[in-house]
Amino acid sequence: MTNTATHPSDPTTPSDAPPSTMRAIVQRSYGSADQLELALVDRPSVAVDEVLIEVHAAGLDRGVWHLMTGMPYLIRIAGFGLTKPKQPILGLDVAGRVVAVGSDVTRFSPGDEVFGIATGSFAEFATAKLDKLALKPTAASFEHAAASAISGITALQALTDVGNLQPGQHVLVIGASGGVGTFAVQLAKALGAEVTGVASTSKLDLVRSLGADHVVDYSNVDPTVTDHPYDLIVDVGGRTPVRRLRRALTTRGTLVIVGGEDGGRWTGGVGRQLRAMLLSPFVRQRLTTFISKEDRSSIERLAEFVESGDVVPAIGQRFALAHTADAIREMQAGATLGKTAIVVREDTDDEPPTR
Ligand SMILES: NC(=O)c1ccc[n+]([C@@H]2O[C@H](COP(=O)([O-])OP(=O)(O)OC[C@H]3O[C@@H](n4cnc5c(N)ncnc54)[C@H](OP(=O)(O)O)[C@@H]3O)[C@@H](O)[C@H]2O)c1
Repeated sequence: MTNTATHPSDPTTPSDAPPSTMRAIVQRSYGSADQLELALVDRPSVAVDEVLIEVHAAGLDRGVWHLMTGMPYLIRIAGFGLTKPKQPILGLDVAGRVVAVGSDVTRFSPGDEVFGIATGSFAEFATAKLDKLALKPTAASFEHAAASAISGITALQALTDVGNLQPGQHVLVIGASGGVGTFAVQLAKALGAEVTGVASTSKLDLVRSLGADHVVDYSNVDPTVTDHPYDLIVDVGGRTPVRRLRRALTTRGTLVIVGGEDGGRWTGGVGRQLRAMLLSPFVRQRLTTFISKEDRSSIERLAEFVESGDVVPAIGQRFALAHTADAIREMQAGATLGKTAIVVREDTDDEPPTR
């Protein structure tokens, strides 16, 4: 159970006070989605630099699966809990309404609509660090905002801070139909690039609808065979060897490896990223990788793209909180389109969950 101690900055009038218990998706140990349960637990209380959010929607991404399974084992060593998860409530991406703030928080007040990265967002209430939140773009519903932060800032940083994308450049997004990729395609277009998106056959229409200039079906065509090389490759999916990715780059092009599943149990296959970085100093191309920074400035930069309408989070599935385990199973089976929203509190401007 989470801590229920009332913080001095928690709402004090009985009518304002959120309930002391809440529904949440709980994991007692590392394992598959089968061990998740919808439980009644204590509502978390805010620390001095935190905000308590009444969750309207949460977003699902690959990071949730890694924290649920404790795989690769590297993440257990990195501090998430050696034998069982330190944080029993799953969920990272969040959008909702502030109901209480810690004593050091001046940037948000109760009633503000916010989005960002929380601790345990698959619940009716969640806390988030002040620096991992921004005001929700008014143009976005809670679901759209909830689906944005982790995938969106990863795509934004891959293209700009790491990839240094310039207008007019040709960029290849491998994994364009997924969480990070659907943001990467739209952001690259908004930044003035010519975009080629790689996905499987049934998801090519989605990638086209996001504005990609060209699409490549990786189930039939090798995307690294091209007569129009790329200034930037953002590799989000699959495990294409670095040597093949390099042949699709211009002589001074940049490869940014964001991720790719099916790696080893211990390191998740970061060997490919390490090989790219070790090789980079010896070749004219720049071969690199990164771990996204979950900071306020990135979330606010992303919010501007969403507010302007240049980026519309591509939600392919909506699940009610009680069906979160099914949502995770579908993502892991590769059956999802774009992002999955977990609907915690139904709002009039959102579509109802499909499951
Ligand atoms: N570096 C970081 O800080 C960071 C941050 C966030 C995520 N990540 C990592 O980035 C990766 C993607 O995350 P995500 O949320 O976007 O996952 P996702 O939603 O599951 O998307 C995966 C994408 O990879 C594509 N794909 C699968 N197999 C492929 C293959 N053989 N060749 C080409 N493309 C293939 C999928 O295409 P189809 O569905 O069409 O098959 C889909 O577009 C994960 O490994 C995640 O852990 C890293």
